[in-house]
Parts: sequence; C-alpha cells; structure tokens
Amino acid sequence: GKIRAPTHIISTISDDRGEEPTYAGVPMSTIVERGYGVGDVISLLWFKRSLPRYCTKFIEICIMLCADHGPCVSGAHNTIVTARAGKDLVSSLVSGLLTIGPRFGGAIDDAARYFKDAVDRGLTPYEFVESMKKKGIRVPGIGHRIKRGDNRDKRVELLQEYAHTHFPSQKHMDYAVQVETYTLSKANNLVLNVDGAIGSLFLDLLAGSGMFNKQEIDEIVEIGYLNGLFVLARAIGLIGHTFDQKRLKQPLYRHPWEDVLYTK
Ligand code: ACO
Ligand code: LMR
Repeated sequence: GKIRAPTHIISTISDDRGEEPTYAGVPMSTIVERGYGVGDVISLLWFKRSLPRYCTKFIEICIMLCADHGPCVSGAHNTIVTARAGKDLVSSLVSGLLTIGPRFGGAIDDAARYFKDAVDRGLTPYEFVESMKKKGIRVPGIGHRIKRGDNRDKRVELLQEYAHTHFPSQKHMDYAVQVETYTLSKANNLVLNVDGAIGSLFLDLLAGSGMFNKQEIDEIVEIGYLNGLFVLARAIGLIGHTFDQKRLKQPLYRHPWEDVLYTK
C-alpha cells in the first residue's frame, strides 16, 4: 500500500491545491457568486464555518467602526512618526499595530474572558468590579481617555443598537452595561468602551448563533480570537495614515522640547 511521509505542517483552513483555492472548503467562485463579504471570509478562515448573515454583518460593522479613530491615538501616532521618518508602508503599519495591547484596542479578549467568567459565576457587577479592584486589575473594556458618561462612544451605541435588533440574546452585553452603570457611579471616565462592547457582544453572538458548542466557545475565548478584529480593522486606518503622510510630504517628526518635562 501507499506509505504516507510524515508532514511537518498541519493546516485546516484553506487549500490551494485544486483548480481553485478554497476557504474552509468553500471555493473562491462560490464566495464571489454568492456575493459573500469580508465578514463571511473571516467566518470561514477564523471560525471554519459559514455564519448567518446577521453575524457576518456584525463582524463587518466592528471592522468598519474600528478602522480609524483619528491621528492622535497610540497606533496612528506611531504610524505617522514612522512614515515621517521615511520608512516604507509595512514598517509604518506594523509600528502602529505594535501599540495594540491591553490599554489600546487589545482589551477585547480580556473583556470577553472576564465578563464571561463573571456571568458564569453569577457575580453581581459590584462583586465583579470590587474583586478586580482587590486584585489590582483594571476592568478590561471599561474606561476611555476622552469618552465620558456624558459623552458616550458612538461606536458602542451603534453596536448595541445592531445587537438589539438582530441578536437573539444580549446577556453578556446587558451584564457589561450593568458593570458600566456601577463603574460610572465611581468615576465619569469609566464608560463601557468599544473593546468592552465588542467583547461582550461577541460572547452573545457565539452563544446566540447556535453555531458553536460550549467547548468551542471556551476555546475561542481562551485562545483569544477577538483582538484580531481590532488589529484587522485598525490596519485599514494605519495604512491610510501612512499614505496621508507621504502624500503631504511631511518631514521627519521631532517632538518639541517644550512638551517634555526634563527633570532629575
Ligand atoms: N477599571 C478600573 N479602574 C479604572 C479603569 C478600569 N478599566 N480605567 C481607569 N480606572 C481608574 C484608574 O485606576 C484611575 O484611578 P486612580 O487614579 O485612583 O488609580 C482612574 O480610573 C483614572 O484612570 P486613568 O489612568 O487616568 O485613565 P486613563 O485615561 O489613562 O486610561 C484606559 C484609559 C487606558 C483605557 C483605562 O481606562 C484602561 O486601562 N482600561 C482598561 C483597558 C481597556 O479597556 N482598554 C481599551 C480602551 S478602548 C480602545 O483602546 C479602542
Ligand atoms: C481608538 O479607537 O483608537 C480609541 O478608542 C482610543 C482613543 O484613545 O481614542
């Protein structure tokens, strides 16, 4: 019989060996003919299944809403400085992407982890927030540099409205809102931010779509797929900032002395 040589790589999401490439078994021609969008492609390549349209549209809305947030945020700032140092597109892009992390854009997975755990354990928002405080951990998904209780993040409202209309259940989102109500009673900057909104709503999407079993949901949350949404989205804006700086022929950036406190 045939002897199979051992392979060094296992891959399960795409295949380019046939007449046309496939994503999770779906041929490219089907993707084009059926008018699939980027949300469908993400479903196939990340989740290895076709998700219902209301889910893929939610993914697309997350990407559109997180694509950019102006030139002053950490990622765009790094990209602008790098582009102005004469570096190429990839260098400018990755220097911005590298700022995505627990404080900026990369709190989605931890928000999902902590909100899920708190809901599973039946903690009241008070118990949850105070237990985080005791551990010295900031609640991921809560807080913003410029958004306030009286100046909410429009992106969060838009995501909530979409879920309200299309999701069968918003259990985790409702919990996150209760957490926000409690944190806002402590300080006006402790709003539910876009990372917290996506983290909690994605938990509702995973559970409500009926497309994932409990073990799969746990694995997605544990591995941490969801920061990928912000990384992917923000790459769009960072590429735009790179082109913008090049188009404007901006010179090397040097931070002004007046804006530095030189001290011993
Ligand atoms: N949980 C608990 N307390 C918080 C939180 C939080 N998430 N965020 C801020 N605080 C508290 C701080 O402890 C601080 O109190 P203290 O001075 O007594 O220690 C007070 O609120 C003010 O905090 P600042 O440090 O001034 O807040 P800052 O504006 O620098 O932080 C940030 C903003 C980084 C977003 C912060 O709120 C945070 O770390 N949040 C959690 C991570 C997160 O969700 N990041 C995603 C933000 S959205 C995005 O990037 C797209
Ligand atoms: C963003 O999406 O980049 C922001 O929410 C972060 C910020 O500081 O405004």
